[in-house]
Amino acid sequence: MPLRLLTAGESHGPVVIAMLEGLPAGLPLSAADIDPDLALRQGMNASGKPYPGASPRMKLERDAAEIVSGVLDGETIGAPVTVQIRNLDHAKWQGRAVPPMTVPRPGHSDLTGAVKYGYSDLRPSLERGSARETAARVAAGAICRRFLDEFGIRVGSYVTEIDGVRADLSGIELEDRLRLALHSEMHCPSAEAAAAMRARVQEVMQARDTLGGLFEVVALGVPPGLGSHVHWDRRLSGRLAGALMSIHAMKGVEIGDAFVNARLPGTQVHDEIVLAPDDRAGRLARRSNRAAGLEGGITTGQPVVLRVAMKPISTTLTPLQSVDLASGAASPTAYERSDFCAVPRAAIVGEAMVCLVLADALLEKLGGDSLAEMRPRLAALRQARLEDLPMQNVPRVWWP
Ligand SMILES: Cc1cc2nc3c(=O)[nH]c(=O)nc-3n(C[C@H](O)[C@H](O)[C@H](O)COP(=O)(O)O)c2cc1C
Repeated sequence: MPLRLLTAGESHGPVVIAMLEGLPAGLPLSAADIDPDLALRQGMNASGKPYPGASPRMKLERDAAEIVSGVLDGETIGAPVTVQIRNLDHAKWQGRAVPPMTVPRPGHSDLTGAVKYGYSDLRPSLERGSARETAARVAAGAICRRFLDEFGIRVGSYVTEIDGVRADLSGIELEDRLRLALHSEMHCPSAEAAAAMRARVQEVMQARDTLGGLFEVVALGVPPGLGSHVHWDRRLSGRLAGALMSIHAMKGVEIGDAFVNARLPGTQVHDEIVLAPDDRAGRLARRSNRAAGLEGGITTGQPVVLRVAMKPISTTLTPLQSVDLASGAASPTAYERSDFCAVPRAAIVGEAMVCLVLADALLEKLGGDSLAEMRPRLAALRQARLEDLPMQNVPRVWWP
């Protein structure tokens, strides 16, 4: 896979860092391409209105990207691109004696991380297991978004369900969903559903509890032919699902309406292949997009639609039962400043991971060390024509 991402940094350390290796040269890039995505991840919609349910820390942090390698004179040079984001909260923790944390929160990496690495204090699990790391992913995703933009590929997201409030988006085109979500109070294209979701989040905060929910990530303008059916780790469906599942608290990924489709017969699910109407060049078209843009682990050229399930936030104001590992006695969990519902913010992280995987797949498909080398290669991909397929009506002997 040509594009590699490394992230580093702890939740209350001085910085979080993203390093992207494998980007071609010639991509115009500045911090201004990254900061808007960082603001969305922090819990501020594109109109500058905060989402409810975000941790008070989000009011303190003002995430700003500093590009420290790989860009000269406003363009990538083909070398690793490194971005750092300062943790403003770090100053409060610097030189402070922090009591050991010995009661693991169920649902977090506190216990599993400490058992695995042998920590005697749970804080190192928390520091690196925290979703603060997703700021680095979003920075890297924004760079990939900038790259995809050069090829007419757009990635967006929207929240579809929180606490039983399900947005009915059936009458809203994908393009419009992405646009409306950006300015919504809950990152949801339906104003009615957004208002109901907001009320539910406020109720759950009063009830000293937390929520998860569902969001969708959509990619538009994706050319056919990204990914491959020939090997398990090259199938784009698996790569996308794996990248989304790697985000903290994501517990399910669905390609399109996969779970509904699984209950239907094939004739009601598969997208019939037809000759594009009024197209003399012999282009192909589909009657529907139930496959959500992916067949055989390869993009079809239709929109890619991925649905993601996030579990409720695991730090709850109402204590959960746990055990104090220092004394061995049963103990309720202690509360640390935390989000109540982070689904609108998680959707932005989901976009970042999809941008990363698509940028990687595009680089794999087109090859090339500079944007100038890649651009002409895309045009051919955009045309899936019958006459280009190497098919001849001649019997062959397949096996030796
Ligand atoms: C954007 C975002 C914000 C999050 N904020 C919090 C938080 O404030 N408190 C918390 O306990 N968990 C938060 N989480 C979830 C934890 O990181 C998650 O529960 C933990 O990593 C364990 O999940 P896992 O089992 O999937 O790794 C957040 C997740 C995301 C994606």
